[in-house]
Parts: sequence; structure tokens; C-alpha cells
Amino acid sequence: MKGIILAGGAGSRLFPLTLVASKQLQPVYDKPMVYYPLTTLIENGVREFCLISTPHDLPRFHQLLGDGKQWGISIEYREQAKPAGIAQAFLIAESFVGNDSVTLVLGDNIFYGSDTFRSAFTGFTSGATIFGYHVNDPERYGVVEFDSEGRAISIEEKPKTAKSNYAVPGLYIYDNSVLEITRNLKPSPRGELEITDVNVEYMKRGALRVHRLSRGFAWLDAGTSSSLHDASSYVQTIEKRQGIKIGCPEEAAFRSGFLSQPQIETLIAKMPNCEYRDSLTRAVEEIVRHKS
Ligand code: G1P
Repeated sequence: MKGIILAGGAGSRLFPLTLVASKQLQPVYDKPMVYYPLTTLIENGVREFCLISTPHDLPRFHQLLGDGKQWGISIEYREQAKPAGIAQAFLIAESFVGNDSVTLVLGDNIFYGSDTFRSAFTGFTSGATIFGYHVNDPERYGVVEFDSEGRAISIEEKPKTAKSNYAVPGLYIYDNSVLEITRNLKPSPRGELEITDVNVEYMKRGALRVHRLSRGFAWLDAGTSSSLHDASSYVQTIEKRQGIKIGCPEEAAFRSGFLSQPQIETLIAKMPNCEYRDSLTRAVEEIVRHKS
């Protein structure tokens, strides 16, 4: 399965932080925001990536992530010259996707907890798989409504009045027909190719699965200054308390078997002395201990 990371947009709600570096490059506690969604996909076995961003920001992502080889993955870069909706990512990355299935993650979505994603990824065969997460303010998101048997019966993008409290997070898994669906999509009244319209099309075809994310699962939003701060505090709290790392691509690549023990040790040896290096070292030692 191929992976697309969409890291575009002006980040205007984070002004003036985003005057120089884009939203997805901002720190969330001890690492850049884009590390988190990237790590989520690595943890779920995705190895080939295409990162899409603005012509202005793309060079910085390249500087940060390189070609991915250091983590046993590959990363290609494509430009989204003008923001024309999330689903436009599939048109931009069409040749990258080829004949494969594909997962799309938004570069500002941070996930932590439970194994729901794992079973969704391993169990994926065809159609579309998306998620539903209970929130206070569903009107800010795509909203999914369920019938009494738990089947999705409507999905609406930022409705004035939400039909449920279940928002659709920015992580989507599709079979290859997403390319044909996106090609035939009409822009919405706001002029965008809406990801919600892609999901509605799969639902009409009877090919949409919606997994509800459980109570213990965290989906964090880091799009405003205060939610960015909250996300940082959350990550710091969990990392300190549990002595683990969240959103660490090196660790995820090692766990997924993309990096061998000597490879990750070499990577660590090249890092400057810092908290990140110390905690990664501890995490690797623990993984090795549990393996043996
Ligand atoms: C987008 C999608 C929306 C989804 C959200 C998740 O909204 O359009 O359906 O729920 O991402 O973060 P945006 O963040 O672009 O307003």
C-alpha cells in the first residue's frame, strides 16, 4: 500500500508562526508535526510515500525528511501549486499510486493509542476504510452518521447542524478506484475537490467501512496556537509518564522491521546529544529486550 502525506495550506490560523515555516513543520513538543502522521503510517507497514506540499514549503520538507532511506522507506515529493481540496492529492500523486491501494494522511493530524488502525490496515482488501471519532464540535469536520446497526448512512462536510458527534479524522484508506472516483469528482461550492465527496461515492457503491475509534484513542488537532500547545503538552505528558516516544519515525521503522538493529544504532550514533537521542536509545534497548 502506498502512502500520501498532504502537508499543504497556508496555516493562517497559526499566524505569525507560519510566516516562515509551514504548519506541519512546527514543533509538537520535541519533533516536527509531520513526524506524527508519518510515524502512524510507518507503524502500519507503509513504506513508500509521496509528500505533497506547496512549491514554497516543499524544499523544507525535503531538507527535513530526505529520500527516506535513512529510515528504510522511500519519500517522493510533489507540488500542490494551488490548494484545490484534499482529494486533489490523488490527481497529483496518480503516477505514484499506480495500480496500488493507497492511504492518505493529513500532515497536521496526530493520532495516539489502541490498535484500531492496525486491524483496519491489515484487514483492508478493497473499497474504502475511514474512521469515526467522537468529538464535542463535529461541525468543524466531516461528520458521519450511523444507523442503529452501526452502518454509516450519511457523511457531510462541515454541516451547519451535525447529525452525529462522529467526526472523520484525516486518515483514509482506499483501493485503486479512488483514482477514477477523483477524476470524475466535481468541485464543491467552495471550489474544492472534497475528500468527503470521495467517501460519499464509496458509500453509494456499498464499499465504505467506518471504524469507530474507541474512547482511549487520542486524535489531536494542532491547527490553532492553543491546540498546538495542548498537543505538545499531551505528547510530553505521555512520553514522560510512560517512558515511550510518540511520533518517532526511527522507532516505528525499527519496530516495523524497516531498519535492522545495527542500522538504527548507526542512526542514533550520528545524532547530537539531546533528549531525543536519549529516549530513542532507551526505546530501542527496550524493544531489543522484549524481542529476546
Ligand atoms: C479536513 C476534511 C474533513 C476532516 C478534517 C480532519 O478538514 O475536509 O472532512 O474531518 O480534515 O482533520 P480541514 O481540516 O481541511 O478543514
